[in-house]
Formats: sequence, structure tokens, C-alpha cells
Amino acid sequence: MGGQLGFLLTQITFKPKPLPPNVRLDKQTAIITGSNAGIGLETARQLASHGVSRIILGVRDASRGATAKDDLAKTNPGCDFQVWHLDLESTDSIVSFADKVKTLDRLDIAVLNAAVKQLKFTTTASGHETNLQVNHIGTALLSLLIIPVLKSTSQQTGRPSRLTFTSSEVHFWTPFNERTASNILERMDQKDSFVEGMERYYTSKLLNVLWFRELASKVDVKEVIINGTNPGFIASQLHRHDPSSGFKVLKKLLAWTPEQGAYFVTDAAVSKQTESHGAYIQEQKITEPSKYVLSAEGKEAQKKLWDETIALFKKESPNANFDSILS
Ligand SMILES: NC(=O)c1ccc[n+]([C@@H]2O[C@H](COP(=O)([O-])OP(=O)(O)OC[C@H]3O[C@@H](n4cnc5c(N)ncnc54)[C@H](OP(=O)(O)O)[C@@H]3O)[C@@H](O)[C@H]2O)c1
Repeated sequence: MGGQLGFLLTQITFKPKPLPPNVRLDKQTAIITGSNAGIGLETARQLASHGVSRIILGVRDASRGATAKDDLAKTNPGCDFQVWHLDLESTDSIVSFADKVKTLDRLDIAVLNAAVKQLKFTTTASGHETNLQVNHIGTALLSLLIIPVLKSTSQQTGRPSRLTFTSSEVHFWTPFNERTASNILERMDQKDSFVEGMERYYTSKLLNVLWFRELASKVDVKEVIINGTNPGFIASQLHRHDPSSGFKVLKKLLAWTPEQGAYFVTDAAVSKQTESHGAYIQEQKITEPSKYVLSAEGKEAQKKLWDETIALFKKESPNANFDSILS
């Protein structure tokens, strides 16, 4: 799969399945970023319905978070839903969120799901292009900072904790023009590298795949199972900046619901086991990522992206000790 024809066929023929009803996750704690809406909100609801006892909703807007919490509490009154502020555009916000995560007595499941699809060139207060900041830099920073809590939980529970990225099939579709730049991230921040439309979002989701594969190669699968899943084409607010009528028709005809999108996420974060460490999951199956990711050039880009990203973190968060996290 990965081609656009395959994508259309899948949307028409594939029937996503929820977790089997007998799956129990009692006493577990989960974090889901971007859980005030869309796939993240429904992932929270599904995990709670399988007994997760505490769910941290990592959201950037307090009132949208409160509305989501009220909605979730109606369907799952037994779960302790907590709204924690997290703005992936801000390094300070990510570091504060991660500091609070360190105070948890356990963290069994983390789903890094929040993202934007920004079709025009915009930058965040951090100075980075918005898709790059939220979907790669912010998500990658948070993933790294919460690894120690996931690892220590696995020592308590005697089983690996879980870290799932909400990835995308669109990672197959980017020409990734910045791949030959001497510094990929710096090039992506330059306005003249930006092609208006979906391309930058696609590239940001490719960076997700490269990042979680490299992260998985550095973390023991006995401590944390790290994977990424494609939730398919979902009718959500992600497409809010896409006003074209062709896209709206496509969405009406083909898109699945956020509830169905969450089936893919809960499958990756709960059902898939150690064999999914470092894997890309599509249609609820471990699947090869794009040919580029598997190519020699892609593998080199994966390592280069890692080094560039860590160098950026060290520059932007000089007080954090990134070297000790993976040692
Ligand atoms: N929808 C699709 O067709 C599709 C397909 C493949 C993959 N995905 C992936 O699925 C994931 C969930 O997307 P969705 O479709 O559920 O979209 P969505 O409804 O727009 O949800 C995205 C979530 O991310 C949050 N978010 C955005 N920027 C943020 C920031 N700076 N800091 C913290 N949170 C932020 C949003 O918060 P606000 O409500 O405050 O904006 C929202 O809660 C994304 O990773 C997306 O790339 C979606």
C-alpha cells in the first residue's frame, strides 16, 4: 500500500475493528496528546471503556479540555480524566508538562497524537515552521522526556510500557525535497522551502516515522514498546485549513469517523506487542513504511534527523540532560 489508489480502496473496503471487549487495562495510567477532539478524544474514551483508571488529556486550550473531560466523564464516570496544559508550539510548555509527568506514580500508555495540518507558511513563537514544530519537534521532545517514566513503570509492572505515535500514510507521498539539505530542520524553517498545500504536513509525518524508528532502536523493547500507526482518512478538525470543495467531497464520501480512527490507535497502543517495536502499522497490521524510509538514503536521513533534532533540543533546552535519558 502507500499509493493513492490503494488509499482510496482501503477507505472503501477496510472495516476497522475495535479492541476485543475482553481486553482489560484496569489500574493503568495513560496520556493522550491532542485529546480534546477527533481521534485523540475517542482514543481516551475507548481506553477508559477498557478500564484505564487515569487518563491525562494533554491539551493546549483549557476550556476545550474541560468540555472534553465533561463529555468523557459522561460515558466513563469511573475514570479519572485530568486536563493538563500542553502546547506543542512551546518548548517551555512541553518541558513543564514532562516535569509533571515525572510526578506520576506510573505511566503505562502514552499516545502522541496531537498534530496540525497547516497549508500555508506560518511560524510559531519558537521560530519554527508550524507543521515542523508541532508534528515533529514538539512531539519528538515530549517522547524523549517521558521515556524515563515509561521505563520505570515497566519495572513496577513487569511488562513493557507503551508509546504510540499517531502517524500517517501520507508519509509515503512527500517528495521530501529538504532531504539533501546540509541541515534538514534549518531548511524546513526557511520560507522558500515551503510549497503551499499539503506537502509540508506530509513531510512532517515522514519525520514522525523516522523519529519513532530511531527512538525504538535506542530503547529496550522489554521496557517500552514504541510504534506508529496510520488511522486512515478521518473526518476531523485536522482538515480545518483545507477549504477546497474537492477535498470536502472526498471527506464526505470516504472519511471514517474519529471513533473508527481511534480503533487504529488503541490497536497499536494495546493489542500490538513486542513485534511492533519500531514498526509502522497500517490497516491494523504491521506494514512496511515507504520505500524511502527503508532505502539506504532514508536510513541515513533517519540518523541525521535524530542528530539534528537532539542538537536542536540541547540548544533550546540547555538545562535538560538528553544524553542521560537513553543511557
Ligand atoms: N484526520 C485524518 O484524516 C488523519 C489521517 C492520518 C493521520 N492523522 C493524524 O491523527 C492525529 C489526530 O488528528 P485528528 O484527525 O484527530 O485531528 P484534530 O481533530 O484536529 O485533532 C488534533 C488535536 O491536536 C491538537 N493540537 C494541535 N496543535 C496543538 C499544539 N500546538 N499543542 C497541543 N495540541 C495541539 C488539537 O488541539 P485543538 O483542538 O486545540 O486544535 C487537537 O486536539 C494527528 O497526528 C494526525 O496527523 C489524521
